Amino acid sequence: MVKAVVLGAAGGIGQPLSLLLKTNPSVTELGLYDIVNTPGVAADLSHISTPAKVVGYLPPDDGLAKTLQGADIVVIPAGVPRKPGLTRDDLFKINAGIVRDLATGIAKTAPKAFVLVISNPVNSTVPIVAEIFKQHGVFEPKRLFGVTTLDVVRASTFVAEVLGDLGKAPSISVPVVGGHSGVTIVPLLSQSSAALPSGFAQGDLEKLTNRIQYGGDEVVKAKDGAGSATLSMAYAGAEFASKVIRAIKGEKGIVAPTFVHLASDPAGGEALKKEIGKELEYFSAPVELGPEGVASIKPLGKLTDYEKTLVEAALPELATNVEKGVTFISASK
Ligand code: NAI
Repeated sequence: MVKAVVLGAAGGIGQPLSLLLKTNPSVTELGLYDIVNTPGVAADLSHISTPAKVVGYLPPDDGLAKTLQGADIVVIPAGVPRKPGLTRDDLFKINAGIVRDLATGIAKTAPKAFVLVISNPVNSTVPIVAEIFKQHGVFEPKRLFGVTTLDVVRASTFVAEVLGDLGKAPSISVPVVGGHSGVTIVPLLSQSSAALPSGFAQGDLEKLTNRIQYGGDEVVKAKDGAGSATLSMAYAGAEFASKVIRAIKGEKGIVAPTFVHLASDPAGGEALKKEIGKELEYFSAPVELGPEGVASIKPLGKLTDYEKTLVEAALPELATNVEKGVTFISASK
């Protein structure tokens, strides 16, 4: 029995993500919450002939608590996407407040749930959830994840495109580490499961890396003011949620990159810190999932000199983003 909850379920990501979770046969209950339209989305999805019972609530009458009751896994795509006229700071302030309030609800009603944060900026919203959970005395780093799967999905697709064979995309895996915005996104293309073509020059590698780091911009531009990635994000979010669910149900050996607190690792992420050579609190790294959430953080392995420079470039930005999230909560106490 798995109850999955989507907070922000009526949005551009929320609706297709809820659809994909409804089609996951392991999900037996699906709780949908948003400030608009959830009863409609829930009624619509409830007609699909898969096991999940679907419920949808709005804020009145404790809708958030009702949705979260008994949740095993909570996915959060609530918030505003990038749009023309919205600065990064505007976006941060709006989404930080939304995530803070939703995290408070989770801390009160479903403190044992696995929490998967999609709302941007992930590098800051994950620390916001952690700080709220700490305030409520329910922070368990093993159960908190920033969803960076879209970067991983893009890396597989773009490598397959370079190879001229999209048919290979589903089987190509490229670890993407660091964080989840711009320079903090570090694809380890030297560890791609499918080798890049011989003659792939440093310039080509830099272009491909840049495309993975800024893939979101392609979608924002093509949508021309209508928002950012929603369908590919829903796919990526459902993929990651399904891995977490399989791990909860006891499947072993599932590894996926995700943005986590280093205390989630049994050894406190010491091996990763050693590889990177810096003190760190949060990082996106390949994580082995288990019934308790994070089973261990995997080492990054051998990096090329180019990949080392990418990690170096990511660290200061990552630290600033994390600090911004932490300060948002400490300042609003
Ligand atoms: P959207 O505007 O289409 O949907 C957001 C939904 O959140 C709306 O239905 C809205 O009513 C709801 N919402 C707002 N405040 C709420 C609250 N207090 N409680 C519950 N629901 C609330 O936006 P979209 O495109 O679905 O994007 C959502 C978020 O996901 C954005 O922050 C975006 O930047 C982020 N995102 C993250 C990605 C990732 O890779 N992690 C990729 C793409 C987007």
